[in-house]
Amino acid sequence: MNIPDELIQLLQKARKVVALTGAGISAESGIPTFRQAQTGLWAQYDPEELATRAAFQRNPRLVWQWYAWRRQLVQQAAPNPGHLALAEWERIVPEFMLITQNVDGLHQRAGSQNVIELHGNLLRVKCFDHDHTVPTWEEDEIPPRCGQCGSYLRPDVVWFGESLPAAGLHTAVTAARTADIFLSIGTSSLVQPAASLALEAKSYRVPIVEINPQSTPLTSAFNFVLAGPAGEVLPELMGRVRGDGVMR
Ligand code: OAD
Repeated sequence: MNIPDELIQLLQKARKVVALTGAGISAESGIPTFRQAQTGLWAQYDPEELATRAAFQRNPRLVWQWYAWRRQLVQQAAPNPGHLALAEWERIVPEFMLITQNVDGLHQRAGSQNVIELHGNLLRVKCFDHDHTVPTWEEDEIPPRCGQCGSYLRPDVVWFGESLPAAGLHTAVTAARTADIFLSIGTSSLVQPAASLALEAKSYRVPIVEINPQSTPLTSAFNFVLAGPAGEVLPELMGRVRGDGVMR
């Protein structure tokens, strides 16, 4: 990969690095992205049609089972070199913030600590009516029900049409504006408000970098574009930033 020296210098000087990730960073761990055609049992469904309150009300069993399938994929998956490189970066730079749209928890499993989960986490559940959180549940009924109010349990993720956690979003926007460099990794830049974070950073004169093998609607706005898979580009980038060129 041809990584410009100018970018390496910016990264080496940066004291505050902010990265936004999307489903693409987990693709190399075997977790399908949202806009990839689904395979097998789920091929006939569009994820955007399963990830809404209305879809759950219409067919709670179907939506629960879709997330149960994704939860199982996530539990069997392992962080890949892209997740590991970001965790390493956090250890060597004074300030590092990871903002993720992913609900798979793989960044934390890779060792990242300063993580904002904008869209929740599918390993947690809450109840549909009152957001009661539930640490454990039995799958004797599908979906299972809340022990406190009897409503159905659902994944603790942000569905289309729902609000993002306000505090997390506020922290993410502030971090984007005050970063020395902002990276957008493995996201199609289609879903707001996460997609606007890179432009927000740029409007505060923060250099912005995209890492994605495909172009996105925002590609032309980026100062640097590294068109390759995150699991290859990030370890190489880290090797260059450390100065030893070693991909770990
Ligand atoms: P998408 O599925 O929309 O996009 C995944 C992006 O990753 C695409 O642009 C791919 O080109 C890119 N990609 C694929 N393989 C990659 C690799 N190995 N390395 C780097 N990039 C790769 O996923 P998101 O952008 O995360 O929201 O989607 C945003 C949100 O829409 C999701 O959080 C979810 C979804 O519907 C909710 O559920 C609320």
